[in-house]
Order: sequence, then structure tokens, then C-alpha cells
Amino acid sequence: MTAQEIRQAYLDFFKERGHAVIPRAQLVPQNDPTTLFTGSGMQPLIPYLLGEQHPEGVRLVNSQTCLRAQDIEEVGDNRHTTFFEMLGNWSLGDYSKKEQISWFFEFLTDVVGLDPNRLYVTCFIGDSKNNIPKDEEAANVWSEVFKKKGIDAKAVEIGSEETVYEAGVQGGRIFYYDASKNWWCRSGKIEDMPVGEPGGPDSEVFYDFGLPHDEHWGKKCHPNCDCGRFLEIGNSVFMEYVRADSGFEKLPKQNVDFGGGLERIAAAQLNNPDVFKISLLWPIIEELEKLSGKNYDSHTESMRVIADHLRAATFLAVDGVKPSNKEQGYVLRRLLRRAIRFAFELGIEQNFLENVVPVITDMYHTDFPEVKDNRGKVIETLINEEKLFRQTLRKGVRELKKMATGSKLDGNHIFILYDTYGFPYELSVEEAALQGIEVVDSWRREFEQKMSDQRERSQTASKGVFKGGLADHSEETTKLHTATHLMYEALRRVLGDHVIQRGSNVTAERTRFDFSHPQKMTDEEKAEVERIVNEQIDADLTVTYKDYPTTDAFKMGAKGAFGDKYGDTVKVYTMGKPGEKPYSMEICGGPHVKHTGQLAEGGKRFKLAKEEASSAGIRRVKAVLQ
Ligand code: ALA
Repeated sequence: MTAQEIRQAYLDFFKERGHAVIPRAQLVPQNDPTTLFTGSGMQPLIPYLLGEQHPEGVRLVNSQTCLRAQDIEEVGDNRHTTFFEMLGNWSLGDYSKKEQISWFFEFLTDVVGLDPNRLYVTCFIGDSKNNIPKDEEAANVWSEVFKKKGIDAKAVEIGSEETVYEAGVQGGRIFYYDASKNWWCRSGKIEDMPVGEPGGPDSEVFYDFGLPHDEHWGKKCHPNCDCGRFLEIGNSVFMEYVRADSGFEKLPKQNVDFGGGLERIAAAQLNNPDVFKISLLWPIIEELEKLSGKNYDSHTESMRVIADHLRAATFLAVDGVKPSNKEQGYVLRRLLRRAIRFAFELGIEQNFLENVVPVITDMYHTDFPEVKDNRGKVIETLINEEKLFRQTLRKGVRELKKMATGSKLDGNHIFILYDTYGFPYELSVEEAALQGIEVVDSWRREFEQKMSDQRERSQTASKGVFKGGLADHSEETTKLHTATHLMYEALRRVLGDHVIQRGSNVTAERTRFDFSHPQKMTDEEKAEVERIVNEQIDADLTVTYKDYPTTDAFKMGAKGAFGDKYGDTVKVYTMGKPGEKPYSMEICGGPHVKHTGQLAEGGKRFKLAKEEASSAGIRRVKAVLQ
């Protein structure tokens, strides 16, 4: 079966079992300012997993294009890609573990034809601290379905990260792991879930390629070991919980959120651990072999990077992203430049996107009509960027020669060439060798240091853009930012605890705030929110902040923006009267005024200017100080 056939068979299989086939969401999330890209199939379905009714019913299926830009540096091994398709099926409070596990197993073994002896599965061992039981129910279903194939599936408790490499496989087929492996939520770790975030125990399926274990990873192999013997091909999340102010609560509906990597299932079907051999990647590699006259076996890593990056770039362009220096556009630019730079290493020094991009669009155009519709525009966008970058490359060479006149080339020069001229460091070094220019021995360390300084700077900058959502740090914007915290708490007091921040954007003129709430606010509710906020302004609350470990911040009840990912420590802003229980506590990067009374300067009052629907289950308010 080709990967395309596996995708179609999956959609058909679930359609026959009462699922509505829903279209993929775009790679750029439409109503979620907290994240740059769609990274899983469930992301666009959050409101429905939280209890809202989906117009297509309670059984859904699709293949969701996903982009994980954070994996960009990992591409090059046999299984990581930034772009992939996630096959997904969902039960919104309808069927549960029995159906999910039996169906997926049937699909893998009877439809895709995988040998059940090569499948290993994992279940949740339970979490007494959070009162979440061991998932014996899932394990029992697994044991039954394996039995039907004549396999006696032994269950073993393998436990936590510290013990697994000592424990090993132990003749087991069903493995109980702790929350670090078998709990799924968007924040990754159970401890990091912000209030309002859904999650649940999961059950993963691994394919055994039968490769020898590599002890570099740990003493003994086990399904979650990264040595390459086992590959995760699907994950059934029993999305049944939501993080509450203290501990966990059951969601209004017990859902199933399944996600399986199409590329990985296709690799398992070929019984070849190299995902680049599948029908949705191999044609790109063949084209690269043709263009470079080199072969994949001796230039594996470069060809993988180019194939992955150009496929991702093509889909970003299909979804309307243009290369630029910020946000999604920057990621697109970075993917293209990396691809061109790796191609350079292969000896492809001429424009080549005009050859490769059509190979990619051809692989997708029948299954995703938008690829066909946008083909011309996509090719044009990408090849224009290529031309631009090649000019930059030429300028970089000139600059390099200038820098090195009368001195050696050092890490700082190489960084400037990289940062300003987009000139890959390997090229700088190679070019220097060609020109007979000496490079200082310490260049690499200096360059890495500059890179890490820059990463820190850009992380800080993106925190500003995506977390705070502040347009600038002017006095007016700062006041409205403080007003936003006062308003968030007031909304929760008036409407209820289900109100969770879904986005915010503050300018000097107004604050815009998106939050979960199922219906229009009444005039009385709006008036009450205004009254509470003005009351807190008049009370002249003190605004302070302190750094806390993230888990402590949530334990204290600090609010976090829904869907945000947090580092190990966070800044918590508190607004209150000294010595009294604070009015508001929020994880936030600032800045804020020192006293809420400052918001009333010039006789101003807080006013809700607008309240409207933003998307299903999300309301948007705009507020001003006037
Ligand atoms: N949402 C789950 C995942 O991304 C299925 O693995």
C-alpha cells in the first residue's frame, strides 16, 4: 500500500463506522494566537473536546497536516520530520476504549496488513497523587484483541523514566508506564497543565522493526526507547479530564482523541524504519538524486533535510504563508534557506525549487484540492524566495572577502555573515578555504555563543508577541494590560470558572481579549464586569510580581493563558491589597503599572466597548480606558 492508499483506507474504515470525514485545518491556526502552527489533529477541536457540540456529530475522522517547527534541528535521522500528517479519529462523548482499541488494531492488522507479532502497546500506570486510576480497562481490551490473533499478551509494569532501562521488555507486550509517557495534554507534562486544559491517559502502539538494541540509549530496550527498534505509530488519548483550580475534574464528556502518524504507519507497512522511503517522501529524494547526480545512501542526511523542509515549505505556502522575518513567515524562510544550504552541499548550486516543488504538489494534489488550486502561486512564492536568497549568498561572499582583508576570519564574522546575509556557517568556512583566508581555531565556540545569545533574544521577543500579546510597552498599553488582568478576573467572577483566556492583544488604544464562554454576554453581565474592574481601580491595588517554579505557580492558583507552554519558572503578577488575599494572580511577562489607581489618571474609567463571537465557544471583548 502507498501512504496515499493508507490515508484513504483509514478515512473509509472510520466512515464505515459512523464517522464524519472533516477537512484538515490549515497549518496556521485561525483563532488561536497562542501557537504558531497546528501541531496535532486535536488542536482545532479543543472547544468540542471541552463539551461544545460539533456540527458534524460525535464521531469524526480526518488526516490533519501538522507542523512541528521545534523539531527542525532533529530532521536528518530516519524518523523526524517537521511536517507530517496525523490520522485522527474522535469520539466526542460517544464510544470509548473498547471500540477505539479494537478498531485501530483491526485497521493496522487487517487493513494495512501489519504483523500483530510486531505490535507492542503501552497503557497508563495510574497517578495516586492526582487520583487517576491505572488503566486496566485499556490493557484488558488489548489482551483480548491480541488473543484473537493467537497472541498471549503479557502485561508488565515498567514504570518511570528512571527504571525502564533496567527493566527492559521482560517478555511483555502491554507495558504500563507512568504519566511521563502515558498521559497526553498539549503542555506535554501533567504538572504543567494550566487550569482549563484538557488531557487524559493514553495508550500508544509501537511497531518493532526488530533491529538490535543500541546501548547508547540505556541498558535494555523497551517500547519507549529511542534506539530505533520501536517506532510509535499511533496514540489513543482517553481525553476525560480537565485541570481544575485544585487537581483534576472529569470533562462533561468522556472523549477519545486518536492520532497516528501517516508517514510512520506507511514505514511500518514497508517494514523499513526509514520514513523517507515512503511514497510521500521518496519521489522528492529521487528528484534530488537526479539533480545532484549523487545518491541517497552516501548523502542521506542532506537529502532528508531538503525533502522534509521543502515539503513543509510547500504546505505552508499552500496555506498562504509568505516568507518574512517574523512568526510563521520566518519559519518558512528558515526552512527554505536550510534546504538551499543543504542542497549547496550536495553540489546543487543552481535554482532547483522549480524542479522539486512540482514533485511535491503532484503527490498531494488529488487528495488535497487546495494544493492543486494554489499550485502556481505556491511555486512562484517559493522560487522568488530562492532567487532572493541566492543573491544574498553572493553578497555574503563579497562581504566575507572584505571582512577577512588584513585579518583572520573569526566566529563573530561568521555570525554576522549568517545573521545579516543568511550565509550558512559551513559555507563561510568552505569559502574561506577556497580563497586562502585563515579562520581562527576558536571560531566555532564564538559562533555558537553568538547563536545562543541570539536564541535567547528571539525567545524573549516571541514571548512578548505571543504570550503578552502587547503591541508595545508604552504607558497607555501598559495600563490597558493591567486592565486586562482586572477584566479577566472579573469575567470569571461574573460568568464562572469556565472562562479561560484564549488570546489577547493590547495596543495603546484598546485591549482585545478572547475567552471561552458558550453564549453572548447579557447587558447586566457586561455592566457588572465594568463595575468590578472600576472598583478594583478605585481600590488602588498594589501590583507586584515574583518568579515561581511553574508547578508552584499553578498550585497557588495563578491563571495561565490557555494553550501556552511554560518554562520551568514563571513570573506571577499579583494585584491586591497588601496583607489581603489578592484579587488577581496571573502568569505573565509584564509589564504592568505599579498601582491600579494609575488607570484612572485623567478621570478615565474602564469600559467594555464591544462583545462578540470570535469562533465556536469563544467570545471576544474589546475594552478601553476613557
Ligand atoms: N493528540 C494526540 C497526539 O498528538 C493523539 O499524540
